[in-house]
Amino acid sequence: MATQKQKPLNCSPDLQFLLIVFMVVSSSLATSSSAATEAEALLNWKSSLDNTSLSLLSSWVGDNSSTCNWVGISCNNFGSINHINLTGSGLRGTLHTLSFSTFPNLISLNLSHNAFFGTIPPSLGSLSSLEILDLSQNNINGSIPDDFVMLGNLSILSFRKNQISGQIPQEMYKLSSLRVIDISINNITGSIPASIGNLSNLIVLDLHKNALSGSIPSSIGNLTRLKVLYLMYNQLSGAIPNEVGQLKFLTDLGLVNNKLNGTIPLGINNLVYLKNFWSSNNSLSGSIPGDICSGGLLEIFTVQNNQLTGPIPRSLRNCTSLTRLRLERNQLSGNISEELGIYPKLNYIDLSYNRLYGELSENWGKCQNLQGLKLSNNRISGRIPHLEGSELHVLDLSSNGLIGSIPKELGKLSSLFNLSLADNRLSGSVPLEIGMLSNLQYLNLGANNLTGLIPEQLDGCRKLLSLNLSRNRFRESIPLEMGSIQSLEILDLSHNLLMNRIPAQLGGLQKLEALNLSHNELLGSIPSSFDNMLSLTVVDISYNQLEGPLPNNKAFQEAPVGALGNNKGLCGNATGLNACPSITRGGKKSNKSTIFIIVLVLGIVVFVFVVVGVLYMICHTREPQNENQFEVWSLDGLLVYEDIVEATESFNSKHCVGVGGTASVYKAQLQTGRIVAVKKLHTLQDSGGEAILKAFESEIRTLAEIRHRNILKLYGFCAHPRHPLLLYEFIEGGSLENILTDENYASNFGWMERVNVVKDVANALSYMHHDCSRPIVHRDISSKNILLDLEYGAYVSDFGTARLLKPNASNWTTFAGTFGYSAPELAYTVEPNEKCDVYSFGVVALEVIVGKHPGDLISYFLSLSSTSTAQGLQLKDVLDQRLLPPNNQAAEKVIAVANLAFACLRTSPQSRPTMHQVSQELLF
Ligand SMILES: *[C@@H]1O[C@H](CO)[C@@H](O)[C@H](O)[C@H]1NC(C)=O
Ligand SMILES: *[C@@H]1O[C@H](CO)[C@@H](O)[C@H](O)[C@H]1NC(C)=O
Ligand SMILES: *[C@@H]1O[C@H](CO)[C@@H](O)[C@H](O)[C@H]1NC(C)=O
Ligand SMILES: *[C@@H]1O[C@H](CO)[C@@H](O)[C@H](O)[C@H]1NC(C)=O
Ligand SMILES: *[C@@H]1O[C@H](CO)[C@@H](O)[C@H](O)[C@H]1NC(C)=O
Ligand SMILES: *[C@@H]1O[C@H](CO)[C@@H](O)[C@H](O)[C@H]1NC(C)=O
Ligand SMILES: *[C@@H]1O[C@H](CO)[C@@H](O)[C@H](O)[C@H]1NC(C)=O
Repeated sequence: MATQKQKPLNCSPDLQFLLIVFMVVSSSLATSSSAATEAEALLNWKSSLDNTSLSLLSSWVGDNSSTCNWVGISCNNFGSINHINLTGSGLRGTLHTLSFSTFPNLISLNLSHNAFFGTIPPSLGSLSSLEILDLSQNNINGSIPDDFVMLGNLSILSFRKNQISGQIPQEMYKLSSLRVIDISINNITGSIPASIGNLSNLIVLDLHKNALSGSIPSSIGNLTRLKVLYLMYNQLSGAIPNEVGQLKFLTDLGLVNNKLNGTIPLGINNLVYLKNFWSSNNSLSGSIPGDICSGGLLEIFTVQNNQLTGPIPRSLRNCTSLTRLRLERNQLSGNISEELGIYPKLNYIDLSYNRLYGELSENWGKCQNLQGLKLSNNRISGRIPHLEGSELHVLDLSSNGLIGSIPKELGKLSSLFNLSLADNRLSGSVPLEIGMLSNLQYLNLGANNLTGLIPEQLDGCRKLLSLNLSRNRFRESIPLEMGSIQSLEILDLSHNLLMNRIPAQLGGLQKLEALNLSHNELLGSIPSSFDNMLSLTVVDISYNQLEGPLPNNKAFQEAPVGALGNNKGLCGNATGLNACPSITRGGKKSNKSTIFIIVLVLGIVVFVFVVVGVLYMICHTREPQNENQFEVWSLDGLLVYEDIVEATESFNSKHCVGVGGTASVYKAQLQTGRIVAVKKLHTLQDSGGEAILKAFESEIRTLAEIRHRNILKLYGFCAHPRHPLLLYEFIEGGSLENILTDENYASNFGWMERVNVVKDVANALSYMHHDCSRPIVHRDISSKNILLDLEYGAYVSDFGTARLLKPNASNWTTFAGTFGYSAPELAYTVEPNEKCDVYSFGVVALEVIVGKHPGDLISYFLSLSSTSTAQGLQLKDVLDQRLLPPNNQAAEKVIAVANLAFACLRTSPQSRPTMHQVSQELLF
């Protein structure tokens, strides 16, 4: 037709007119017939998709409306489809039902952010005009088909975030128009083909997070237009090819987490546009190239966890563009006072665990944007310089050779949240100004030569979680003001010269989990206020002059011998101690003194190191070495999400420790070594789970702050769009339900242990109902969400999250709990309150002693409960028959549990006891 068009000059006007008519008619006939087949192909495909997809494509209908007006479709001037953009449309199905050969004019195909599954159809290769192909963020698997290399015009290719496996096709180099390749976050194996060097138009090559092995081909140096090269998180080995230095436009080079060895090639010095260089967690050796900042554009340089030696290069000294510098955990040496300058943009610098020496410069204080400065574990000497004016959040100078006193100007660093000066040779007293650091969460001044009193002003640090003042020479009393640092979870005052009595106010530290007062000169008895420290789990009070009864607190009563030993005269029901003289029954003096003698006679093996070790580990894991570790709140949670994905190998079933109707639970060891239970909510995916989580964010935050030894710690949640996650403490053991249904476990689960489990659950519920700023109702107590550790300690899980975990309940306010555990009044759609929990607790308590869900027995028991003697007899017949009947002492307690359970099961909520009353009753 093009030739016809040029010729009509010698035709008569009429003929010309006819020709034009002919041309218009024939061309419109041609396009409308191809448009019809395109429409047909799309409709066929639509009909193969999942039901929910259909409503999203409601504009795709087979009447006379033009395909070009359909959602996501656009056409060229001839009415033929040239762009398909269905990104983020919630579509689910495969690509095999789409007839690709029907779209000869298609230029771009964007199906990203959907739920397409299955393999990539080879017929995709027939899209001969295709320039842009984006299938990122789907669930596509299988390998990249060979026919794929027929897409000769392809310029941008993204398969990011799928489950594509197999190798990179050898013939990929034929796609010579490619400018962007993004196959990141898949499961590609094999090596990077050397022929990739032929893709001379490539600007972006992103292969990160795959399983690529072998070495980086030197032909990569032929990609002279490359700006971005991401190869991190693979298993690449060998050296970084020196040819990288030929990539003269390179701005971003990511090699993190591979097995690369050899030196960082000197060619890097030539990369004048280089902005970001990430190469941590490899085995690189040799020194850092001297001219790494030659272009003056370098912003991020991270090479931590390698074996680099030599000095920090001079080029970094005036590299004023730097924002982030991480050189920690290498073997770098040199004088730190000479190597570094003023960096106006620097935000975070970590030089820890090297062999740097010299003194700290005041220049650090002049880095206006510096938030993190970490220099621990080097050989730095001299005094701490004035750093006022900086925005520091984290200052870690621990394990060096610093001398002199702590400058009072540190009190002006009002953003500080982590300050560690531990393990130096600092002397003098702690400046009172430290108490002005109202954002401080971690303060470690341990292992220095500090003297004087512990400043009472420390109570100004209202957010303090961990305070370590151990191994110094602090004198006099523990200030009673310390009892008002309500946030405190870890307190270590050991190895000082502290005297006098322990202030009763310390007992008010409701969140305290670990307390070490050992190796001091403390006197008198332990205040009875310690009875109420419900979170306390680890204590060490050894090597003091303490006497009198141990507090009525599990942490003390179950402490190992070494943690209580070498005192003047402690007594109580704990290993290695003598029982206390019964004062209430009119204790006689003579009695007391014999008790003291017996106590002194006991030879005590000292397990202090064990306890100190445990404390150290707790403190250590809390240092945010990987910052953001538990900042699971907010959208920044992505970082942690990736960490979890890695730890669970993308939620691989081998890490799965439990699957329920609403969530799967995975055991994940994070990079810090901490083991957490990750609850992945699977039902939320289709019902706006992210939105639900967001809606409850403040509530979850509250829950995450709660610390009670019988409540499973919730660390936070991750409102990730695909998999909303809740992160919990990991308990080695199983659910109460599992233990009771397993014959082996159940027959070893003795009567006293069972009674204690009931007590633990009662304590947890009482705490949540009565001791929090406002009552928190569980809503779904059942044997499924009570976890037992290996010593049968009980942990109530999923507190307050029942609404999240069971979104199917039509209306949250009338949420019905688990069948068989929910209170009868819930049938009348009452808002669940504490009394509903009390009822469910009653069911669980009976379940524990009966050995299975009591079912119909509940009403049977209720009919008996008027005559308690008869009950004692008949109860015996329904107790768990897998155990011998309880002996006298245990029988009493089992009956008490049963009686309380009956009370809790009363039909009228008003006549049920409160959990506070229940837990008091169980204090036998
Ligand atoms: C594709 O569609 C999305 C949302 O409908 C839009 O934000 C995006 O700009 C489109 N992309 C192109 C290349 O048209
Ligand atoms: C990745 O591929 C390997 C080998 O093909 C396979 O063993 C592994 O399970 C895959 N991993 C995932 C997460 O698909
Ligand atoms: C890189 O390009 C040069 C010249 O264009 C060529 O001689 C060499 O073989 C290429 N190297 C590789 C590994 O492709
Ligand atoms: C690097 O590792 C390879 C094995 O992957 C080994 O053969 C080579 O000797 C190593 N090179 C250096 C410099 O350590
Ligand atoms: C760094 O200082 C050296 C001289 O000391 C100078 O040659 C170089 O240009 C400076 N670089 C930048 C980025 O300022
Ligand atoms: C601690 O300080 C005292 C003086 O206050 C000094 O005698 C002692 O040697 C110092 N100890 C250490 C380990 O620096
Ligand atoms: C002492 O504790 C043990 C176990 O912790 C317990 O069996 C025993 O009954 C307790 N004795 C007294 C008098 O409380």
